[in-house]
Amino acid sequence: MAIIMLVTTLLSMALLCEEATAAAYVRPPARPNLMLFAGGKKSIQPDQVHVSLAGPNRMRVSWMTSSMTAPSTVHYGTTSQQYTAIASGVKKSYSYFLYKSGQMHHVVVGPLLDNTTYYYMCGGSGREFKFTTPPPAGPDVPIKFAVVGDLGQTGWTKSTLEHIENSNYNVLLLAGDLSYADYYQPLWDSFGKLVTPYASAKPWMVTLGNHDIEGIPYIVDPFRAYNTRWQMPYSESGSVSNQFYSFETAGVHVLMLASYADFDEDSSQYKWLQADLARVDRSRTPWLIAVLHAPWYNSNAAHQLNGDRMMAAMESLLYEARVDMVFAGHVHAYERMTRVYSMKRDPCGIIHITIGDGGNREGLAQSFLDEQPEWSMYREASFGHGELDMVNATHARWTWHRNDDDEAVVADDIWITSLSAPESQCSVSSSTKRGVSNRRVLRPLGT
Ligand SMILES: [Fe+2]
Repeated sequence: MAIIMLVTTLLSMALLCEEATAAAYVRPPARPNLMLFAGGKKSIQPDQVHVSLAGPNRMRVSWMTSSMTAPSTVHYGTTSQQYTAIASGVKKSYSYFLYKSGQMHHVVVGPLLDNTTYYYMCGGSGREFKFTTPPPAGPDVPIKFAVVGDLGQTGWTKSTLEHIENSNYNVLLLAGDLSYADYYQPLWDSFGKLVTPYASAKPWMVTLGNHDIEGIPYIVDPFRAYNTRWQMPYSESGSVSNQFYSFETAGVHVLMLASYADFDEDSSQYKWLQADLARVDRSRTPWLIAVLHAPWYNSNAAHQLNGDRMMAAMESLLYEARVDMVFAGHVHAYERMTRVYSMKRDPCGIIHITIGDGGNREGLAQSFLDEQPEWSMYREASFGHGELDMVNATHARWTWHRNDDDEAVVADDIWITSLSAPESQCSVSSSTKRGVSNRRVLRPLGT
């Protein structure tokens, strides 16, 4: 009898322990910096392959070769190993003290069919890759973005990328801080190799963060590696700089802004943004979103006020244009704000989201300000990624996927109504031209 009681007691204790363990979330230990192939031998075959949107029905294919004489050509077609078109482009390389890069090739291919998988070969030899083009242009066309920031190249980064891959996204938006090379150039190469399986298959649209700036005054310009490796469609959008640009896909106009270029009223970025917003037509692209690095709204203890000067210069411009959402990185945590303008809740304001939790080696920003501001709706210091699913012209679903565990868990899930929707509280003209005769009504209807 005593033995039965002892066994029963031990079983009860075990069950209690299990319940207590299950109730308390235990964060797993940090995962190591991968530094894939850093300092290793450069590949003879094309590698570091990524693709990006390059204007209507066009994609830019970019890759690295160690050979200085490898051709900048892409053979492509809609059937594997049967290439029906060939395109040529440019190649660039750079030096950074003792480091000498390979040749980075950039080739624009197209015109391409919408929603179609193309098979392609870089430089006329080597392995075959494939990418899928986005859906067609149109105000009511569904499209899904993966959104991530501050990736780096750790085990957590790999986990984030694998989760994103499973999301069946069309276009990836990266809010800056790509490789965390931080002046050690081989880490740009290892980052390029790490992301190739993903970035060679879907367009990656990136803007730069502070870790992408590697200038040495009077010796090296700040964006030498970033500009050589990650060429974005700036000239196609009328921008004069690879640091800021815009693009349109399906029914979305996307502004990729630069936290680390001049943004004051007399700056080239500000003037370009004004001109770009004047070209937005909400009847063609009912969704208007922006991506930048240093957040304007942030209740994490890390990087407080880092985005304030840019916010002071540009917030009213974006507010008056009725921008729906702004995505930022920099803070290594997740935070979602309600519609906000000038530090106050505003039904016509912008939904700001900080998504700097891609998984880099610096780890998480664990501390939030004690008092959660009225405009902060959800905040959590975990690694993860976001998915922005534009369902139609008026409604989108935003989900944030925590990946501190091996599987992605949806932790935040909201539906968003575009400010251009008829049921929105705010009035947006079909065109966002900023001329006096076409200025939009700035206050909510009925007030
Ligand atoms: Fe940053």
